[in-house]
Amino acid sequence: MSLQDILSVVEAGSEEEALARQVNFERLPVHVAVIMDGNGRWAAQRHLPRVEGHRAGIESVREVVEGSARLGIGVLTLYAFSVENWKRPAAEVSTLMLLLKRYLRLELNTLLRNNIRFRVIGRADELSPEIRRELSVAEEKTSSNSGMLFNIALNYGGRAEIVEAVRRLISDGVRPENLDEQRFGDYLYTAGQPDPDLLIRTSGEMRVSNFLLWQIAYAEIWVTDTLWPDFRKRDLLEAILAYQKRNRRYGGINQPAVAGR
Ligand code: IPE
Ligand code: IPE
Ligand code: MG
Repeated sequence: MSLQDILSVVEAGSEEEALARQVNFERLPVHVAVIMDGNGRWAAQRHLPRVEGHRAGIESVREVVEGSARLGIGVLTLYAFSVENWKRPAAEVSTLMLLLKRYLRLELNTLLRNNIRFRVIGRADELSPEIRRELSVAEEKTSSNSGMLFNIALNYGGRAEIVEAVRRLISDGVRPENLDEQRFGDYLYTAGQPDPDLLIRTSGEMRVSNFLLWQIAYAEIWVTDTLWPDFRKRDLLEAILAYQKRNRRYGGINQPAVAGR
């Protein structure tokens, strides 16, 4: 994936094209994680029910998945439903699940065409059997793809993930002297994956809302006021360009600007 791949999905002469041409493909973030927020506010601004914001947000998911794959991002993780989101009205939760099911049905071919591997992170066992089946089909059908890994965080909680990891470490009989950060990471949902380099949050909130707490230790955070349903490839490109201007120090000094692949 390269400049040509992204240019083939943006309009010639557009702002996206100009942004894409500024990207340094040698220094792409390997893992991009996104807190997709602001669907409710987007709908409220239009005097629509909240679920209309979720519906509109699907187009943003399509844009970001395709844009990231074309750019050559290694891993994309989208936060779709948190363990805390069950607090919402039942009708909103069931619409979110329905939209997810529809997205998977409609987009499976796009995922296959773009060589994307799909994976769920979170407590999938607490989702309805119907949704679980749909998710498994998408995971199985894309399992041999070798391009971008697309994690969807569903019924995901960062603290829950850490507690679950500790429980499994104990039940595996891992001895304290054999435990280090690397080993601990192997017990998380993201085992074997690089940590996010870039964390994007839409709708202006300056918080992490229980997302990838362990993994974002040194992620560069980029927050935009844009609401998720308005997020497009242009915004993704802006985030990547901002990331490429950061100086990642990892607690040290004088590191060269942004460590890429
Ligand atoms: C994000 O939008 C979608 C999910 C959390 C599922 P919200 O529904 O949180 O929208 P706001 O934050 O209320 O605007
Ligand atoms: C974070 O958004 C969760 C997802 C994007 C799935 P929320 O809207 O649930 O987060 P808070 O409540 O604003 O922290
Ligand atoms: Mg929100």
